[in-house]
Amino acid sequence: MKIGICSDHAGVAYKAKLIAWLGKKGYEMVNFGTDSTESMDYTDVAHPLANAVEEGKVDLGIALCGTGNGMAMTLNHHKGIRAGLAWNTAIGTLVKEHNNANVLVMPARFISYAMAQHIVRAWLETEFAGGRHQRRIDKIPV
Ligand code: RB5
Repeated sequence: MKIGICSDHAGVAYKAKLIAWLGKKGYEMVNFGTDSTESMDYTDVAHPLANAVEEGKVDLGIALCGTGNGMAMTLNHHKGIRAGLAWNTAIGTLVKEHNNANVLVMPARFISYAMAQHIVRAWLETEFAGGRHQRRIDKIPV
């Protein structure tokens, strides 16, 4: 499975660790940047990640910024993206089970790296439940 990943300067340290960790697990990781701790705009990496998910160049995406909100807001402007913000394991599970998030967003400044790993594992290992949740997802586009 190919996973695209991006962060701004606030999430760059967790991004680097997640790339190494998930790469070891056999996921093909595509890094959309940033790779610097210098202040930058999350939009500049979120849009390219969203495009790659929409175009099928990657199967799923992971995005990190300080609160996660800038990434989620930007990503969710793309019609083909359901970006879900998760800050604990239960939400990591539910964001896939109920919302079928194709991009997982995490608030790097408000969770530990160990928590980020737990959330990613929960999101990757959970299956979308479909049914009434599919009906709700179908009603999201405006
Ligand atoms: C950067 O300071 C911060 O604003 C950004 O990482 C994010 O939290 C925005 O939503």
